[in-house]
Amino acid sequence: MVQVLAQETGVDTSEVPFAVTDRAKVPRERYYDKAFFDLENEKLWPRVWQMACRLEEIPNVGDYTEYWVARYSVIVVRTSPTEIKAYQNACRHRATQLAVGRGSFRGGQIVCPFHGWRWNLDGTPSLPLYGAQGFEPRCLDEDDLRLIECQVDTWAGCVWINMDRDAPPLQHAMRPLPEFLDPLRIGDMRVHWWKSIRLNCNWKIAIEAFMEGWHVMSTHPQLTMGAGEAFPADFLDIQHSYENGHASLEEGHDKEVAEGLGLTAQAEVEKTLGFLRLTCDQLQAMVLPKDVQVVESLRNIDCAPEEFSGRMIQAMYAWNTGAGIKLPDPEPEILARWGSQWFIFPNFMFHPLFGNSISYRARPDGDDPEHCLFEVWSLTLFPEGQEPGKPTFDGEFAKDDEAWPRIPRQDFSNMERQQIGLHQPGFTTMRLAKKFEDGIANFHAYLDTYLAR
Ligand code: FES
Ligand SMILES: [Fe+2]
Repeated sequence: MVQVLAQETGVDTSEVPFAVTDRAKVPRERYYDKAFFDLENEKLWPRVWQMACRLEEIPNVGDYTEYWVARYSVIVVRTSPTEIKAYQNACRHRATQLAVGRGSFRGGQIVCPFHGWRWNLDGTPSLPLYGAQGFEPRCLDEDDLRLIECQVDTWAGCVWINMDRDAPPLQHAMRPLPEFLDPLRIGDMRVHWWKSIRLNCNWKIAIEAFMEGWHVMSTHPQLTMGAGEAFPADFLDIQHSYENGHASLEEGHDKEVAEGLGLTAQAEVEKTLGFLRLTCDQLQAMVLPKDVQVVESLRNIDCAPEEFSGRMIQAMYAWNTGAGIKLPDPEPEILARWGSQWFIFPNFMFHPLFGNSISYRARPDGDDPEHCLFEVWSLTLFPEGQEPGKPTFDGEFAKDDEAWPRIPRQDFSNMERQQIGLHQPGFTTMRLAKKFEDGIANFHAYLDTYLAR
């Protein structure tokens, strides 16, 4: 079995503890074992491209944000209107964390709070360093005093960092996702809201909750619109597993079911409207009030039922164009990607619909494998020239706080229960449905190639 995965990824993962040797089974220890977690911290996070912040968080020269993952802290800073840099967050004197949270470095200087050493935004030491006369010359090599730089690149409206200076470039690591996501104008979306939560579960449990759609019937029964158990398990059933550990999930079944039901155009409108209203109210992302309004305006539409979805898209484009919002080019193969969700290895997701998207990130929080920090962004396209500036972080909320819309609260409710179940002595492996959960298997198999290197 190890051989199978080794062939698929070209890496021998047989030495990795608790390696995935069967794509249908995930050993439970991967979610809580401290040695496995330490291996991720040694071999994954310092070497993988990861989303560090939204691009609009640092619009002005000197703006910075601190990005945390496990024990690692990275400063992401805008150094010029066209350049962003990232540094390991440590003073070159005695290691003090240089920046905390978010803000702007005044006067273009990064200043250590302990003894006052300074750096220019480009990472070079700002000479003379205070008290330099007290050091032996070999401690003051200028190159060795530079801040320790990470690789940085931007894509999809985000800043991505990699602590490994020798890692292949971002474009290489993201393949093949940009060709699918860029035409959806994902990079032009801006933050509508942004919230976070600390969860008592492993970071992989949190992100995996968004990697399959067949939990909808049980976790979000309201979204089945009364279909109950007749709701197709293969709603969101078309899994694509890609190179570099990425995956996507395509909504495939529902349309065919609707066509088979022979609904009238009016019934199509009502059904669509019901679903859009629910999503708008209970997710407050992907479907926004403007989208509901457009479909409401079609309630007295007179057309053949199979023409309805085309008419809805036309109405949406007309409304957005009138509002100055440029939606993606209305090519059928681009529009067909609305509603698909995209997992970006190792811990990030986009789920675009219309000119909006929801986006998720899960990260280990400190030293505890059973604790993670999870964030949700609602994104949307704004009228051109009226894009908002720095986004407001709405805050961190508990899992049952009504500041969270109902749908994410329902998702959160399973995660800590999974983490508890994993520890029961008779439970040994997660089992994955090939048809619905192959993206999760692909994720774990690719994770092992990092842990094996
Ligand atoms: S630790 Fe930063 S200047 Fe001393
Ligand atoms: Fe869900």
